[in-house]
Amino acid sequence: WDRRPLSVWRYREILPVQGEPVSLQEGGTPLYHLEKIGKELGLPELYAKHEGMNPTGSFKDRGMTVGVSMARQLGMTSVACASTGNTSASLAAYAAKASIPCVVLLPAGKVALGKVAQALMHGARVISIRGNFDRALEMVHELCISHGLYLLNSVNPYRLEGQKTIGFEAIDQLGDVPDRIVLPVGNAGNISAVYKGLRELEALGFIDRLPMMTGIQAAGSQPVVKAIEQNLDELVPEPAPETVATAIRIGAPVNAEKALVAIRATGGTAAAVTDDEILRMQQDLARMEGIGVEPASAASVAGIRKLAEQGLIDKDERIVCVVTGHLLKDPETVVRQCEPPIEIDADLHSLLSVLR
Ligand code: F0G
Repeated sequence: WDRRPLSVWRYREILPVQGEPVSLQEGGTPLYHLEKIGKELGLPELYAKHEGMNPTGSFKDRGMTVGVSMARQLGMTSVACASTGNTSASLAAYAAKASIPCVVLLPAGKVALGKVAQALMHGARVISIRGNFDRALEMVHELCISHGLYLLNSVNPYRLEGQKTIGFEAIDQLGDVPDRIVLPVGNAGNISAVYKGLRELEALGFIDRLPMMTGIQAAGSQPVVKAIEQNLDELVPEPAPETVATAIRIGAPVNAEKALVAIRATGGTAAAVTDDEILRMQQDLARMEGIGVEPASAASVAGIRKLAEQGLIDKDERIVCVVTGHLLKDPETVVRQCEPPIEIDADLHSLLSVLR
């Protein structure tokens, strides 16, 4: 693989697609050293893998390049998903590239503006339901079974095949296996995917140990954290999930059992962070490190801050936090937090007086 550029398709031998994939050049995202935040936390080896740098601005593109390629390979004539936003933006773009009609179901009023804009502009049929994501997923599942659309939520195994490449790239970029990989958890597909990929690398003899898989949820939407803390084998769904991080506002994650295995088998952990902790870390990433992410993505690093402050992280650990989506996905949350621009008359005197 060494001569191939960093990308999802660098690892094509361990992906299911035959022939040319439906690709928008996904993957190959930067791994940033969080020097200042790491210093503040006493963690000199803290990194962020910026999945917001994918073609539609989130890690979902890794799953969709594989998922939509498989839809085409299997001869499917329409695709669908439910989404808190990013999955719909990504599916809409890849369906457009593949010329396959696409339907997306969104929870009305709970999807960040940038994500709706993407789904609309890429030409998906965008339907808002008066209900939450969990209900939207049930509905789209029924629609796909009864009407033969191809479901591209993370219940689709090919989605997870693409997303497993996040772990491969992180190892290639670090030149070693990190001690810990930290992910925000919503439907729990991504953490399950990364774990699956690493197990495969281990079975193939490329690596000889696994990172501690660590899942972070929002305090108002934390069924996986509760299952880990209470040592449950099955999840108790959260009937009314709520958080500013709308991407992970999910009460009944469909991949939860797999995520529980990933966390337990690697000696990892799960933790919840409040909306305030999420927004504070979103600002710190932006202002201390120059890294712009959406709220759900800041949750992974906010989770490490919390665990480190509780003394639960070894100072020598090499930690990769996956930051999953771009700042511009959710401009409304940014504008609510920040002072608006100061408007002045168009003369130098006015400019100098406000800068004083
Ligand atoms: N971060 C972002 C930015 C997301 O959009 C999501 C999920 C997650 C983290 C959680 O990943 O579900 O695999 O545990 N977004 C989905 C969507 C649900 O519809 O876009 P997960």
